[in-house]
Amino acid sequence: MSQTFYITTPIYYPSDKLHIGHSYTTVAADAMARYKRMQGYDVMFLTGTDEHGQKIETKAKEKGVTPKEYVDEIVAGIKQLWQRMNISNDRFIRTTDSYHEKAVQTIFKQLYERGDIYKGRYEGHYCTPCEAFWTETQLKDGRCPDCGGEVHLAEEEAYFFRLSRYADRLVEYYEAHPDFIQPVSRKNEMIQNFIKPGLEDLCVSRTSFTWGIPVTFDPGHVVYVWVDALSNYITAIGYGSEDDSDYQKYWPADVHLVGKEIVRFHTIIWPAMLMALDLPLPRQVYGHGWLLLQGGKMSKSKGNVVDPMVLCDRYGVGAIRYFLLREIPFGADGVFTNEALIHRINADLANDLGNLVSRTGAMVHKYFGGRLPAAQQPGEFDDSLEALAAETRQAVEKAMDAMQFSAALTELWKLISRTNKYIDETAPWVLAKSPEAAPRLADVLYHLCESLRIISVLLTPFMPDTADRIAMALHLTDEQRTWQSCAAFGLLPKDCAVEQGVLLFPRIDAEKELAALEEAEQKAKAAAAPKAENTATLARIALEDFAKVELRVAKVTACQPVKRAKKLLQLTLDDGSATPRTVASGIAPWYTPEQLVGHNVLVVANLKPALLCGVESQGMILAADSADGVRVIFADDVAPGSKVR
Ligand code: MSP
Repeated sequence: MSQTFYITTPIYYPSDKLHIGHSYTTVAADAMARYKRMQGYDVMFLTGTDEHGQKIETKAKEKGVTPKEYVDEIVAGIKQLWQRMNISNDRFIRTTDSYHEKAVQTIFKQLYERGDIYKGRYEGHYCTPCEAFWTETQLKDGRCPDCGGEVHLAEEEAYFFRLSRYADRLVEYYEAHPDFIQPVSRKNEMIQNFIKPGLEDLCVSRTSFTWGIPVTFDPGHVVYVWVDALSNYITAIGYGSEDDSDYQKYWPADVHLVGKEIVRFHTIIWPAMLMALDLPLPRQVYGHGWLLLQGGKMSKSKGNVVDPMVLCDRYGVGAIRYFLLREIPFGADGVFTNEALIHRINADLANDLGNLVSRTGAMVHKYFGGRLPAAQQPGEFDDSLEALAAETRQAVEKAMDAMQFSAALTELWKLISRTNKYIDETAPWVLAKSPEAAPRLADVLYHLCESLRIISVLLTPFMPDTADRIAMALHLTDEQRTWQSCAAFGLLPKDCAVEQGVLLFPRIDAEKELAALEEAEQKAKAAAAPKAENTATLARIALEDFAKVELRVAKVTACQPVKRAKKLLQLTLDDGSATPRTVASGIAPWYTPEQLVGHNVLVVANLKPALLCGVESQGMILAADSADGVRVIFADDVAPGSKVR
């Protein structure tokens, strides 16, 4: 029987459209699953959707549909995306699947019966977007420490999980299993930030909304979404159902791949739940970094360029998978830019790999009509190419076993470069000039084809579609495409046939493409921007009315948040007069004080003062509504005090 390998991604919230950052975890998990399958493992690769919770209930209400109708539509889109991205998951779990709901009810009851869940009262802060409870001390400036969003006070009768009981056992487990939390820095973070300050019992039921799995023994309570969601890793393989053979076969999972912000749930709450249930713990939780946009986190408002479907349509799935896996060392944060993507496509894919494939095909056709003769004459440079091909397989394995996708691809690209260099070294066009060099020429082209075969095999986990295209061009059989087949150089028949004209990645005109992307983004933003009323229908005012408004340029000399008013910032302005002017403005969700101080803004200088949350506001500053939220109008090149008319 072959060894099993169980790998999971987090299950995704179907609350917004998935962006390229979400694809990051799934593409990485897919590359690993494919790699392990090629190595002969019996792989279980699980992904799915996390469909309960207050956030979904609220969104569905806003849309006027039931929560199930709401998630059904989004989940269909997520499945399509994974198909488009060549994700080879073996199972897809939805937390609204009835087998999962039943199993979670069983788990909850078991925990209750064992005394690990008890009834109490919850009083604290709740962040709806993160579906997370926070204590007063955990809040950052009164906001959610994870997403920086608003929290609200929640007070209700609730069940609690005795998480505090497990603090010592968790730390002991981490120490005894150094591979459990990876990268290792995340382990220290968990101990220092969460366990050392003291683990509190966790609120695991809610009564203030209904979109969740009901607690069987206390109607009115629904199971806390994270308890529901984390359980998916065992319910998807049959735990708590009549047939738990897959659970017996695959659990414990080999690795849960998760983004760094949810390592806490996977290395504290989840193992504690498993300990309470007396079940084995997963072998590893790998917390990868974030894919950021220049200027911060990804969000819907950034336009359609981060829509993975759009990116796949524009550049091909292979290119997107390659970029995600190659650009950022797994574990670290990285920035997604169009420039970097286009550069990778042009340099690594069109130039290095694409040219190798097209040049090889073209030369086999030009010199031998598409099929090499069997004649062989080994020569200089053959040995070093053969040796590197063998080493590359081992180097890729070493990197993959350490979950270093980028390093694995770097190794593979060394072989691609070496093969390109081999063309320059052997100069087939010179050999082609003398008929007596034909056997050597055939040998050189054979080496190119065989090296390409090995490259295509090693490329398969990362870019399966691209690997398929190379394999088709070389007419490879299944046996010539196995991972083991890379150990031996010379598996292709000596008279191999090769297709010509295979264009894997067309070169992109970077300047034109960036301009086109910019235009597309502006269009998308304009379409999404909140529209002002049609100006033709606005009530008119006389010029004298407008003249009553005194507009001035003013410099922001100081700025600070206003206590107990999350949206307000208090600005001190130099409006050219001797006295500093104080203005309160509702722009805190969009600006930090540092982004304003030192800049010139436009102020309505003759507005009657108003008391806003304890601050006397002497005027207001001008700002516009845009797709990115509220944008302050700056006038940095005009001196403070200047009149605006
Ligand atoms: N539903 C929870 C997970 C429950 S698992 C029992 C959740 N869902 S999520 O949709 O918000 O995020 C799913 C995964 O996508 C997380 O691992 C998250 O880190 C990852 N990413 C979301 N945005 C990302 C980037 N910009 N970059 C990299 N990964 C990102 O959390």
